[in-house]
Amino acid sequence: MLDTIKKYHEEVTQFKASKADKIEKFRIKFIGSKGIIKSLFADFKDVANDQKKAVGQALNELKNLATDKVATLTESIENQESGNTIYGDLTRPAAPVELGSRHPISIVKNKIVEIFSRIGYIVSEGPEIEDDWHNFSALNLPEHHPARDMQDTFFIEKNPDLLLRTHTSSVQVRYMENHEPPIRTISPGRVFRNEDISARSHCIFHQVEGLYIDTDVSFADLKQTLLYFTKELFGKSKIRLRPSFFPFTEPSAEVDIYWGLETETDYRITKGTGWLEIMGCGMVDPNVLKNAGIDPKKYTGFAFGMGIERIAMLLYQIPDIRMFYENDVKFLEQFKAVQ
Ligand code: PHE
Repeated sequence: MLDTIKKYHEEVTQFKASKADKIEKFRIKFIGSKGIIKSLFADFKDVANDQKKAVGQALNELKNLATDKVATLTESIENQESGNTIYGDLTRPAAPVELGSRHPISIVKNKIVEIFSRIGYIVSEGPEIEDDWHNFSALNLPEHHPARDMQDTFFIEKNPDLLLRTHTSSVQVRYMENHEPPIRTISPGRVFRNEDISARSHCIFHQVEGLYIDTDVSFADLKQTLLYFTKELFGKSKIRLRPSFFPFTEPSAEVDIYWGLETETDYRITKGTGWLEIMGCGMVDPNVLKNAGIDPKKYTGFAFGMGIERIAMLLYQIPDIRMFYENDVKFLEQFKAVQ
């Protein structure tokens, strides 16, 4: 019997086929329910006891060999069928193309820039590491002025001071120093303040500040410009200006938009008033114009500044400012549909 098994062993090893029907015939012949291996197992009971071990082993080997052969041949013709053009199987679904998304800060920044560029504003940028003059002194904030405490500062060096800018008003000083009026510019950028991190505030955030200087620029121009902006960005057409104080503008105001009181969220975010504060603004102080080399007798201007995070939180109902900086993909992916 060992000889018979050996012969079949040889036959199985030699067997080659590239057609499914041939493989099927081979399968039936050897491992089918009435196949050779089945009948050999049936004969096994007549094998002499002292040969049982060797024959049993050979028989099992033959069975495994035949089974593996059928499996590998079947697999190879399946591969052939799907890959018989140079492109493989053209009906297979394509691999999905993963698209990234813009960061919500960039989305909102771009929207603001776009709205102002429609009325002639040009983007200006400046360094994040500033000197005392551009961040403070030129803006009517001399050394030891108490208003410096409004913006807690990260210093890099003392005497002469080198610091991380606390607002992008510094860019506007640079712009005024290098350009003649009429000036229409907005300065988006990252700013730094030494503040505790919480759901509402962070030590790093982003601002967009605007500056308009020409002859006969009035407070009414400022109000109309801001009204145009809030209509475009929020779709809200009611604003109010509350008197406020900034060292670099006189008069100064805080801008609120009427958000409404339709939902429970409206109540919560406006603290039941319906109004939301969105930015600071004012008429550029004549002293600031003088500091930057512009004649305050000839020119007047207005300036405004807003935090991008705050506006993004309102637009997309983001509850915590820290979410902007955690780079959690589950958060970022939600902005795929927004441009
Ligand atoms: N620079 C101010 C701030 O960061 C914002 C501002 C800009 C206010 C221009 C008035 C005019 O708080």
